[in-house]
Amino acid sequence: MKDMPCLPTRLRRLRHLPVIRELVQETFIQPTDLILPLFIKAGIKNNEPISSMPGHFQFALQGLTKEIKEIKSLGLNAIMIFGVPEKKDALGSDSFSDHGIMQQAIKIIKDTEPELLVISDICLCQYTSHGHCGFINDKTGRPDIDNDKTLALLQKQVISHAKAGTDMLAPSGMIDGMIAAIRNALDEEGFEHLPTLSYSVKYASSMYGPFREATEGAPKFGDRKTHQIDPANGDIAFREAALDLEEGADMLMVKPAHTYLDVIYRLKQAYPGVPLGAYHPSGEFAMIKAAAEKGWLDEKKAALEVLTSIKRAGADFILTYFAKQFCKWYQD
Ligand code: PBG
Ligand code: ZN
Repeated sequence: MKDMPCLPTRLRRLRHLPVIRELVQETFIQPTDLILPLFIKAGIKNNEPISSMPGHFQFALQGLTKEIKEIKSLGLNAIMIFGVPEKKDALGSDSFSDHGIMQQAIKIIKDTEPELLVISDICLCQYTSHGHCGFINDKTGRPDIDNDKTLALLQKQVISHAKAGTDMLAPSGMIDGMIAAIRNALDEEGFEHLPTLSYSVKYASSMYGPFREATEGAPKFGDRKTHQIDPANGDIAFREAALDLEEGADMLMVKPAHTYLDVIYRLKQAYPGVPLGAYHPSGEFAMIKAAAEKGWLDEKKAALEVLTSIKRAGADFILTYFAKQFCKWYQD
């Protein structure tokens, strides 16, 4: 009997032809797996570049139509939108105004490309004067969020988005009971068909830095550690996910993604039937961009490797600032 071939030899046989490599490849990414986050700012005439997110802009309402057409023509099917209002106040009133920045943007987007899926980020932090994700009635300056009052405001927000024509609601504030409150409001107002995508597992991360420049929504005092998860903890992801599913969430999400591949993997194993998204956030995008600008990393290779890893870990879809670039790379 001949000696058994060693492992490297066997693996080489599966790799020597590109067609075989493709036949046995486990993980693929397509444009249809990606969701592009987009920022829209009120009260500006021209799109404004975001310095810490090269290639990204705060879009003016006037600049939106052109961008939306381009996004669709690249082959993307979905965007997640964030609004930057002209005025912020204690209630975050712009977030539920029929003439708010998001409501106006949704109408323009759906008029331009009805087939493009619009996912609304639902939170108060871009709209409140203090930059926190909920209503604060505490005069001590501690960021204690009034949960019930916040839920009522979120309900008004989702209904105004639904009326404007959004396709999906993605509450991002990790406010207790937010999924149930939003589901109830939607069902009562005749929007039973609109799904919710919960930012169920959201860490108190340093990876959101550039996003705060993009949305001008950094907290004016305190931080978000009271309601976002401590990066040292993984098990709690199951509890957060279970609560959201019980409350009626249709899809779950983990954020950040690259630094939390273990959490993505574990959640997918625990809930194989539940669609799972991963948010590759602004900071994880900026790291690759900055290193590539210095010539320390190959941007395309690094981005594709990271996105592939996120899918391999178990994400069904990825929110990424690389979405447009990915489409261009994909076409080549
Ligand atoms: C809050 C929100 C944040 C992000 C998405 N929604 C910031 C935060 O929680 O502080 C971060 C996204 C990114 O960094 O790209 N509404
Ligand atoms: Zn928030």
